[in-house]
Amino acid sequence: MSDLDGIVALQEANQPERGGTLSACLPPARIAGMMSEMPLIVARRDGRVAGYLMTSTREMNADVPVINAMLAAYPGTADAYVYGPICVEAEARGKGLAQAMFSELRRLVPAREGILFIRRDNPASLRAHEKMGIRQVAGFVFAGSEFVVLSCPG
Ligand SMILES: CC(C)(COP(=O)(O)OP(=O)(O)OC[C@H]1O[C@@H](n2cnc3c(N)ncnc32)[C@H](O)[C@@H]1OP(=O)(O)O)[C@@H](O)C(=O)NCCC(=O)NCCS
Repeated sequence: MSDLDGIVALQEANQPERGGTLSACLPPARIAGMMSEMPLIVARRDGRVAGYLMTSTREMNADVPVINAMLAAYPGTADAYVYGPICVEAEARGKGLAQAMFSELRRLVPAREGILFIRRDNPASLRAHEKMGIRQVAGFVFAGSEFVVLSCPG
């Protein structure tokens, strides 16, 4: 919980209106709820939050239309979790931080499938996840944008 302010600040800095590529802007209370149910991995640099990787249960996302569209395109296994959003601060990108947070997640949640979506026009994220060995399994269109669905095997 002591990282919550830093997570929210990084999320803010990466919104589309500030030139960012995050699809979601989650309220702090929702992030806190996610943390209480599933791991939220944080990377720190000089004491501040430089990256985060959130995860959540399917049940927590029952009211999120874009997640429902993703799971309609690819349902996955019964105990699969929802991976993301993931974000690394601009100055720290390309140094393997996303990869390192993913490795930590795999250590904490080793035997469950993770399902995520990435906008088709986000090559940095598609490439970074491809490098992690996460495979594309489906695609869908939501609110006029094209998304790829990916699965990290359990
Ligand atoms: C996607 C993101 C989390 C990746 O984090 P990262 O720590 O830079 O990723 P890593 O360093 O682990 O992986 C880097 C790989 O991504 C690829 N990559 C990074 N920036 C890229 C870019 N602008 N274009 C294409 N590929 C890119 C590189 O191929 C790199 O692999 P390489 O080392 O072989 O060159 C980060 O770019 C980010 O936070 N973006 C803004 C928010 C966002 O779009 N989140 C994802 C929403 S689905």
